[in-house]
Order: sequence, then C-alpha cells, then structure tokens
Amino acid sequence: MTDKYAVIGNPIGHSKSPDIHRMFANQTNQDMAYTALQAEPDQFDSAIDEFISSNGMGLNITLPFKQEAFRLANQLSVHAQRSGAVNTLIISSTGEIHGDNTDGVGLLRDLTKNLNIKVNEARILVLGAGGAVRGILPSLIDEKPVSITLANRTESKAHDIANLFLEVFPISPNRYDQLAGKTFDLIINGTSSSVTHSMPEIPNRILELNGFVYDLMYASEPTPFLKWGISQGASLATDGLGMLVEQAAQSFYLWRSILPETEIVIKTLKQQFQTHRH
Ligand code: ATR
Repeated sequence: MTDKYAVIGNPIGHSKSPDIHRMFANQTNQDMAYTALQAEPDQFDSAIDEFISSNGMGLNITLPFKQEAFRLANQLSVHAQRSGAVNTLIISSTGEIHGDNTDGVGLLRDLTKNLNIKVNEARILVLGAGGAVRGILPSLIDEKPVSITLANRTESKAHDIANLFLEVFPISPNRYDQLAGKTFDLIINGTSSSVTHSMPEIPNRILELNGFVYDLMYASEPTPFLKWGISQGASLATDGLGMLVEQAAQSFYLWRSILPETEIVIKTLKQQFQTHRH
C-alpha cells in the first residue's frame, strides 16, 4: 500500500514541498504519496486527527501551525523542545505523534555542505526573533561558533530568546542601531521582512570583507537583504532554497530512514525559478 504523507499550512498553494518529496521518493524508490493540505486556523487539530485516522504516516508543518504542532505532539526531539516549534510529525503505528524540527539541520547542511562555510569559526549575526529564528538557533549553537549576536526591531524579543538559550550558549541581544562598529563573518536574515520587499534597518560596514549573507526566505529575485549584502562586499549571498530542500531531506530521513540526494533537487528548483522569471 502507498504510504501517506502531507504538508499542512495556510496558505499552502505555493508550497514546494510536494514537488521536493516527489523527487526524493522517485530517487529512492519509495512507494509514497505526498499531498498539500490547507487547514483553517481553528481546525488544525481536527485536520491532524483526520489525517492520522486515514493512516497518514507523517506530516510537514508550515506557517502558521508550527507552534500548534509543538503543543500537539506526544513526544518531542531536543531541537523541537529548544525551539518551541515543530515542522515535522512522525506518526507511529500506534498513533503516537512524535514532533521534530528539521529547519536548523536544513540550514546547517546548506551552510556547511553546500556552501562550504565554516560555521564553527564564524562570528554570527542573526536578525529577527520570531519562530523562524527559534527554529534555527539550536543547530547553530550545536556548531559552537565563535559568537552569536541576535538583533531585532523589538528589542525585548531578542532578550527573551537570549534568556531562553541562557544555559546552552551565550547569545548577545541587540537593537539594530547597537550593531554599529561591530563586525560579523556571517549574517543570517531570519526576519520576515523579505515578504514585504523590505529589510531590517541595520548599519553599514558590519559585514567582514568577503563575509557571507544568508536569507532564510527564498524568491526568484535577490531579496533587499541579499542586495545589501552584495553592496557590503559579501563573497556569498544566498537565499533559503537550499535550506528548504535540506530540511525536507531530513524530514524524509526521519520518516523513511533514507537520506535522499539534495544537490540535483536544488538544481531543478533553481531552474524552475529561472524559467518563471523569463
Ligand atoms: P516567523 O515565524 O516567520 O519568524 P514571526 O514570529 O511573526 O514570524 O516573526 C517575524 C520577525 O520578523 C520578527 O522578528 C519581526 O520583528 P519584530 O519582532 O520587531 O516584529 C521581524 N520583521 C518583520 N518585518 C520586519 C521588517 N520590515 N523589518 C525588521 N524586522 C521585521
């Protein structure tokens, strides 16, 4: 019987996850179906119940349900516990719901394996203090970088996150204007500013020459943040497409115990973007 998986979110129409998992399944000869489900904000629990009753074996969770999935899971991985958000559910044969968060592992694989960035030697600046940032911090911390600085428009939220990780790693919280005069090797945009084609108001000259900038968002055109990075002399300015594929690969691994090849999938998606642009 074909095994059932899905991604659930709202909106879900533009999700690339069904395409990505279909490519993974073909590549690894897995007999599985992967669909996209849209749930109304107050119907997340019933949508999950229904999916489990129909023998669903695993789910990806996307906006706005990552915190609800965290609440709903019966067991949580360490990364899910630390980030307070779940992007992957694994349903056991007895109906137990295990929650994990593969966003951080996905980012780390893109940075280290695909882009050859030595995260452990980097002074890292993370912009933003929402769910996306909470999702990636545990994996960045696992690499034991030289330092992690967190800056957010609403300063109190940066402090809240620094406190959350207090016993694991020293994170220095800042307002954007307090960054002036400091320098970083890697700046990660974890805000949702790219959605509105804007960027955080950070000072110039805070990126080390030949440093790296990474936007967790992906788009067919470089985001304002990536353009800023290039103007500041970045040697690499990358969007989150690689992270998207790598987090999917880790979810796939949790479900099927096979880690698919990601390079070819990233290449295919990039080509699709370019075709859409012209
Ligand atoms: P997500 O789950 O995508 O992280 P979120 O929890 O709503 O979404 O968090 C959005 C983040 O993007 C916040 O850090 C927000 O800053 P505030 O905490 O000050 O609201 C940040 N953000 C969104 N738009 C922004 C913009 N135009 N400039 C700077 N920061 C922005």
